Amino acid sequence: MASLMESKLTPEQHALIRKVLVAQTASLGVVESPIVEDLLTRHNYRTVLDIGCGEGTFLLQLARKLPGAHFIGIDQSELAINDAVRKLRRRSPDNVRFETAFFEQAFKRTKYDAVMTRYTLQHSSEPEVFVRSAFERLKRKGMFIALESVDAYTDCHEPDPTWERFRSAIAGVHRRVGSNDNIGKSLGVLFKNAGLRDIQVRVVLCSPSTVGVNRFQAVVHAMADLALAFFPDLFDRQVHEEVVEWLKDRACLEQKDPYLCSAIGNGTKP
Ligand SMILES: C[S@@+](CC[C@H](N)C(=O)[O-])C[C@H]1O[C@@H](n2cnc3c(N)ncnc32)[C@H](O)[C@@H]1O
Repeated sequence: MASLMESKLTPEQHALIRKVLVAQTASLGVVESPIVEDLLTRHNYRTVLDIGCGEGTFLLQLARKLPGAHFIGIDQSELAINDAVRKLRRRSPDNVRFETAFFEQAFKRTKYDAVMTRYTLQHSSEPEVFVRSAFERLKRKGMFIALESVDAYTDCHEPDPTWERFRSAIAGVHRRVGSNDNIGKSLGVLFKNAGLRDIQVRVVLCSPSTVGVNRFQAVVHAMADLALAFFPDLFDRQVHEEVVEWLKDRACLEQKDPYLCSAIGNGTKP
């Protein structure tokens, strides 16, 4: 069965998700982006396909940093691609193109130096097929890069009951929408089984100490708003209010240093 993110969303649902994606790029993106940039520049990759580029902010930032490479962002959501195209016009880097397309086995057979995906594999109803299909779109010596959630590692420098409640309510939301919030743990084996080699997986932490209090507050707030609006039975008003109050206490956030995690995996086609 298709997950929520593989389905057509209403404009209202799309607008709420867009807010989270922008906040994730402004926060988690700060610790993720340098790793992706390094992988792409070290190997001098020139053509890059981004599967599930969403509203495009992460890809546009990458494209600005790497003007010598050409990027194609695809997303199954026309609403997301419309947003990405609007941003592209405003920021006008000439090395990015966006297209509405659903990535699957039958996707066109063009081959790329690198294929990347961020927070999209975790929503795939067929992750093994997704990674194999990405492998098939790589040139020899090409690289697949995936940035995905690993929420089981999300924690706090000092234990905190509000953060624990937030985490377990968000885990319920992932189960409801059919996504795997711990797919980061499986990246190595998914890559190996698809035929990728020289596999590396690392975990990065997004916390007040790594990205700053404001960015951390903004992303957690946006996630809480989205969860309350979509699934008030799983993430009720009381949890929402508790999280919003907790986020106002900067000193507590700095002391406890709660963090969100993502796993970044890469592997090369022999
Ligand atoms: C959580 S969003 C991540 C967006 C973006 N990569 C980012 O990091 O901000 C996942 C996106 O993947 C898209 N998506 C999910 N499955 C897809 C598929 N098989 N082919 C193309 N897009 C897909 C969804 O429409 C959604 O925009």
